Amino acid sequence: MVDSPEIGREGNENYSDSSAADTDGFGPSTVQDDIILELKNLRTYFQTSYGTVKAVDGVSYHVRRGETLGVVGESGSGKSVTALSIMRLIPSPPGYIVGGEVILDGENVLDLSDAAMAKIRGSKVGMILQDPMTALNPVFNIENQVGEAIRIHQGVKGQTLADRIIHSLRQVRIPAAENRMKDFPHQLSGGMRQRVVGAISISCAPIVLIADEPTTALDVTIQAGYLRLLKEIQAETGVGIIFITHDFGIVAKMCDRVAVMYAGRIVETGDVRQIFNEPAHPYSEALLASVPKLEERTQRLYSIEGQPPPLFDLPPGCPFAPRCEFVQDVCREAFPVVSTLGEDHTASCWKIMDYDMSKADPDELAAAQSVSVVAAEEEPEVAEVVAD
Ligand SMILES: Nc1ncnc2c1ncn2[C@@H]1O[C@H](COP(=O)(O)OP(=O)(O)O)[C@@H](O)[C@H]1O
Ligand code: SF4
Ligand SMILES: [Mg+2]
Repeated sequence: MVDSPEIGREGNENYSDSSAADTDGFGPSTVQDDIILELKNLRTYFQTSYGTVKAVDGVSYHVRRGETLGVVGESGSGKSVTALSIMRLIPSPPGYIVGGEVILDGENVLDLSDAAMAKIRGSKVGMILQDPMTALNPVFNIENQVGEAIRIHQGVKGQTLADRIIHSLRQVRIPAAENRMKDFPHQLSGGMRQRVVGAISISCAPIVLIADEPTTALDVTIQAGYLRLLKEIQAETGVGIIFITHDFGIVAKMCDRVAVMYAGRIVETGDVRQIFNEPAHPYSEALLASVPKLEERTQRLYSIEGQPPPLFDLPPGCPFAPRCEFVQDVCREAFPVVSTLGEDHTASCWKIMDYDMSKADPDELAAAQSVSVVAAEEEPEVAEVVAD
């Protein structure tokens, strides 16, 4: 279990004044130590006619207050299913959360009744809508659209409701909020509409926002504005953001830490700068190599050879093995144990452990294999690796 955040959610408006110290020369940080969301060994499977699709198979990650965690990986790696599991929005059947914990603000949401979960959805944890330009309903004014969630979740009305709406609009820096809330979407510029969508997402003061590929469908200018807005909202409210993307380039702009996902598992996690400068896992390295670099003119962008494996009937061993240039025999035999490479930096890869089959002690290998069997059933084993 994690500690609940000490700062009340009502007090969020003072957030940016209280904590944004520039401690490391990389600009002010809004990250606090409180862990507000923690996934522990989460497993979500789908029963299909092909067999059991292990879309999320032992995912653990956490988000701190004021932090943006990037979840990055190719299409089909389980990023969205993980997010939908947090919200408990997995279509069932065919999907089932078969194990693990999702600790939000100190309580495991997987233990809650459906009614209790419905209260949390949209209030404590929210999802950012994919296309901010088309998300607003043209027939309702801004007051109605921002007020809806506040009314439903917090049961306020009259002047209190109006004050809360104005507060949300001010938090996303909409000028003359009292007047603008009577406007309809078509009366606002594109940038203002984005801000209104942002106001809706924070209207109930969530502690975690999930942004699932929020900018994929947008053109570059609108994308940049939307990313800036998310950062502003975070500085203003202290909300923790899970930013899901297949684009490592956006991770660099947006995130504090990153979790790299492949075939339903987290294969590497750590500080963004750490992973950009020194990726430990061959898959992270390959994803990074496919990010276009401004200073290099290339005819063709690098892309990772091969396809991610289908998530049913996965063979034993590392699922990246068929695409990995560093593959060794052990990779095909046992799933790599988690190595701790530094504070908050972990990766699952035999190469990191410098595992040499030809020199391996048979007992050692048997032990490693039994660890991987345990890892599939329970908590992944953590092996300490001493960096050179
Ligand atoms: N309703 C469903 N029925 C069966 N399989 C599903 C369903 N939803 C998702 N999956 C499978 O779960 C895996 C992970 O999907 P997803 O989380 O959407 O990937 P990502 O968001 O990383 O692109 C995929 O293999 C996908 O086919
Ligand atoms: S465990 Fe082996 S196959 Fe998997 S990423 Fe590491 S080196 Fe490559
Ligand atoms: Mg997705």
